[in-house]
Amino acid sequence: MTHSTIRLTVNGRIHDVNAAPDTALLYILRNDLALNGPKYGCGLGECGTCTVLIDGIAARSCVIPIQGCVGRDIVTLEGLGSRDHPDPVQDAFIAEQAAQCGYCLNGMIMTTKALLKRNPHPSEAEVLDALRYNLCRCGAHLEIARAAMRTAGHLVEIRD
Ligand code: FES
Repeated sequence: MTHSTIRLTVNGRIHDVNAAPDTALLYILRNDLALNGPKYGCGLGECGTCTVLIDGIAARSCVIPIQGCVGRDIVTLEGLGSRDHPDPVQDAFIAEQAAQCGYCLNGMIMTTKALLKRNPHPSEAEVLDALRYNLCRCGAHLEIARAAMRTAGHLVEIRD
């Protein structure tokens, strides 16, 4: 497919990118815009590590062509918070030490953020359901679930 100039709004900033319209959003974010929060995992829309928010909804950027993102509000991990002012979801993941290698965290955090946007007071079951299709190969699911629960206001202990 021939290249064309495509305007994307990412983290509140407008970017005109020159690429084939069917290019996956993930490649533009990482290679053109130097936004490396979203990670490449499976490239098939199955693992969740590439998750971003599009109009507030969790979306797998490895399988979304940029032509479908024109006029949409894209938010990456970098758009949530900063080192000095982390988003409450990021704060919760830090508080729960919810990482081993950290590769899946982008997806876990962005998926939790999307859940809280559509449901500010999710039940424990809803939190776990929202994260069920995000994969963690280290096995840090308990800590990740605790962090998501903490963000949702559930400071309950999940049994190991
Ligand atoms: Fe996109 Fe796995 S890299 S879902």
